[in-house]
Amino acid sequence: MVKAMGRQISSDYNGRQLVLIGVLKGAFIFLSDLVRQITIPLEIDFIRTASYGSGTSSSGSVRLTKKVELDLSGKDVLLVEDIVDTGLTLDYIIEYLRKSGPATVKICSFIDKRERRQTSVPIDYACHVVEEGFLVGYGLDHAEDYRHLPEIYHLKL
Ligand code: IMP
Repeated sequence: MVKAMGRQISSDYNGRQLVLIGVLKGAFIFLSDLVRQITIPLEIDFIRTASYGSGTSSSGSVRLTKKVELDLSGKDVLLVEDIVDTGLTLDYIIEYLRKSGPATVKICSFIDKRERRQTSVPIDYACHVVEEGFLVGYGLDHAEDYRHLPEIYHLKL
């Protein structure tokens, strides 16, 4: 799935100034795999937000704990998420990124988890679509556990 997504992104962004922005910490494994499947020039940066703590549902309040360092003006930004749940984190990040004057901002998520979505933010690229559940592994954590697992697991609480 990641290979196919890399091919699609390489074709869609051919000739553009692509910047991938990974949302820490969860996206670090997915981003690492994805960039190695993209065959056009690109830049990489990271952003970090806090909202979840050790629970399994969004607190709804998002704050930025690490800003983007690259100049994004006129560039085509692809935001790389591990999983989109309510969409509140993405809404916040997109608003923040737009202030830097990028040409475009699109979303790419390893998992698109739909049941609890509260925003209309479109997920432009997704490897997997699921309806519900709390997932761990491949970068996704629960209270900082399980990120290193090479596969995705459904956490039974
Ligand atoms: P949202 O703001 O509700 O869309 O939540 C986005 C963030 O919450 C993701 O980037 C993850 O860090 C975390 N998250 C949401 N669902 C899960 C899950 O099933 N497993 C692990 N983390 C999750």
